[in-house]
Amino acid sequence: MNGRLQDRHALLTGAGGGIGLAVTEAYLAQGARCTVVDIAPAAPAALAQLLKAQAARLQYVSADITQPGQIETLLDAADSRFGVPDVLFNNAAVFDLAPLLDSDEAMYDRLFAVNVKGMFFVMQKVLARMVKHGVHGAVINMASQAGRRGEALVAHYCATKAAVISYTQSAALAMAPHRIRVNAISPGVIDTPMWQQVDALFARYEKLPLGEKKKQVGAAVPMGYMGAPADIAGAAVFLASDESSYITAQTLNVDGGSVMS
Ligand SMILES: NC(=O)c1ccc[n+]([C@@H]2O[C@H](COP(=O)([O-])OP(=O)(O)OC[C@H]3O[C@@H](n4cnc5c(N)ncnc54)[C@H](O)[C@@H]3O)[C@@H](O)[C@H]2O)c1
Repeated sequence: MNGRLQDRHALLTGAGGGIGLAVTEAYLAQGARCTVVDIAPAAPAALAQLLKAQAARLQYVSADITQPGQIETLLDAADSRFGVPDVLFNNAAVFDLAPLLDSDEAMYDRLFAVNVKGMFFVMQKVLARMVKHGVHGAVINMASQAGRRGEALVAHYCATKAAVISYTQSAALAMAPHRIRVNAISPGVIDTPMWQQVDALFARYEKLPLGEKKKQVGAAVPMGYMGAPADIAGAAVFLASDESSYITAQTLNVDGGSVMS
């Protein structure tokens, strides 16, 4: 039986765990071949199991997306195994927070290097190959509800995610004549490895017991709970598939009702 992404090649960054891994599983289930990228030299444990089970349709490439030279190398590896990607799930990012007056240049540089520079140049270099080879592809950038409004402790991360939304819109307009679609997903709070760090940082600055911030943010979601990584997968499949063929330049909230825009 044909899947909704049958035989397409999807490139997924930051997919060693969390949301990226859940979306990789969903893309494979829909018939795609996947190149998964993360910074670790070898595939993390959960992904390693999947690699064994799906060896014919899945490969892992280690790369640091903040290094444009490494992006070219990873794209060459992706192309040589499965051809130019039809789908980019542009997902790798890092989180940090601090009171505005205490946040330093190193935090600013690290967040913008991964979440904006890395995100942009992965997208640009994939788009260049799609255009060159006439691939009518789909790009999905990972934004965040943090990109929809500021937060006192989270200024830099919020700004990086607002940049993702803006680059999504500009790239969609630039690529529309090539019939390449560019959209973003804006998750709310999703229970992934990133949240261990987020919870610990809020605990420090808001003087909360560990685990309390996670409880609070889950309770504040209109649907009443944090999402799971798999809750992003449906939107990620939809935006990659032909079912969304007339949708571009959009940022889709997948957040249990938290943001209405
Ligand atoms: N979890 C949430 O609540 C939430 C909410 C909104 C948006 N998001 C966004 O969703 C995406 C996935 O988040 P997640 O929660 O699964 O996070 P995660 O930390 O579990 O996954 C992010 C992955 O990116 C990788 N990565 C970091 N820097 C890299 C680099 N320089 N090069 C290559 N890979 C790198 C990490 O190794 C990690 O595997 C991110 O863009 C995040 O900002 C998450």
